[in-house]
Amino acid sequence: MPIPSNLAVVTGASRGIGAAVARMFSEEGMAVLLLARNREALDGVAAYLEAEGGAPHVLAVDISVSADLEKVSAFVKAFKGKLRYLVHNAAVARVGRVATMSMADWRRTLDVNLTAPFSLTQKLLPFMKDGGHIFFVNSVAGRQVFPEWAAYSASKFGLRALADALRMELAGEGIKVTTLYPGAVDTPLHENLPYNWERGKMMKPQNIADAIKYIIRQPGNICINEMDLASASGLF
Ligand SMILES: NC(=O)c1ccc[n+]([C@@H]2O[C@H](COP(=O)([O-])OP(=O)(O)OC[C@H]3O[C@@H](n4cnc5c(N)ncnc54)[C@H](OP(=O)(O)O)[C@@H]3O)[C@@H](O)[C@H]2O)c1
Repeated sequence: MPIPSNLAVVTGASRGIGAAVARMFSEEGMAVLLLARNREALDGVAAYLEAEGGAPHVLAVDISVSADLEKVSAFVKAFKGKLRYLVHNAAVARVGRVATMSMADWRRTLDVNLTAPFSLTQKLLPFMKDGGHIFFVNSVAGRQVFPEWAAYSASKFGLRALADALRMELAGEGIKVTTLYPGAVDTPLHENLPYNWERGKMMKPQNIADAIKYIIRQPGNICINEMDLASASGLF
């Protein structure tokens, strides 16, 4: 198998949607840089990508920590090849009523879900050239607000603004920007939430990976700017 000359960077690649997206890029012949905090979980994902003939790389980083993002940019700078894809996927879901949510939860949500993608974009843009493509995994909560989801929605509405501005700024440089707005997806994100939503009715992480595969297979002269994805079961 030849060494891949194209790199895909995926945040939150240790589980859930990020792990499925990383696997899709690997199957498409990319080298993949897997980012998340949990080293053991990242190594687990890397092991099966390797077993499938892929070329994964792992960095255990907290994307809200500036020094950790320096490690990511140092890796990308040293990579012998082209940074082709950047997927902003990592996020936290801290829920609670506005009246009682802690400042720590509010800040953490905005730091991880909004400020970190801004900062990582700044760090990696110098390495992304014509043919690059940046994805933002947003949410139905980036379109619509729900009670107890103010912090999460604020971060995702903000992420929409970041992506839309970036798309306009990069128009003409040959770098595409796409935002995905999925409804509920059956991932570990739901394990710590105080709701009894029917996980069997939710989309699967593979559905999101397949959507990104569809988007990257489009001809170079078109960009799918946005895609809404919902479970056909009618669940949001
Ligand atoms: N699941 C849904 O219903 C749903 C619906 C719409 C949109 N989304 C969006 O889809 C994306 C992925 O969600 P998911 O459902 O796959 O969530 P998940 O299963 O909870 O996975 C979240 C990922 O983000 C990583 N992460 C969290 N904080 C991080 C930090 N500070 N630094 C680096 N990595 C961090 C986690 O790894 P570590 O813990 O190891 O750091 C994990 O890999 C998110 O943007 C989410 O908002 C999810």
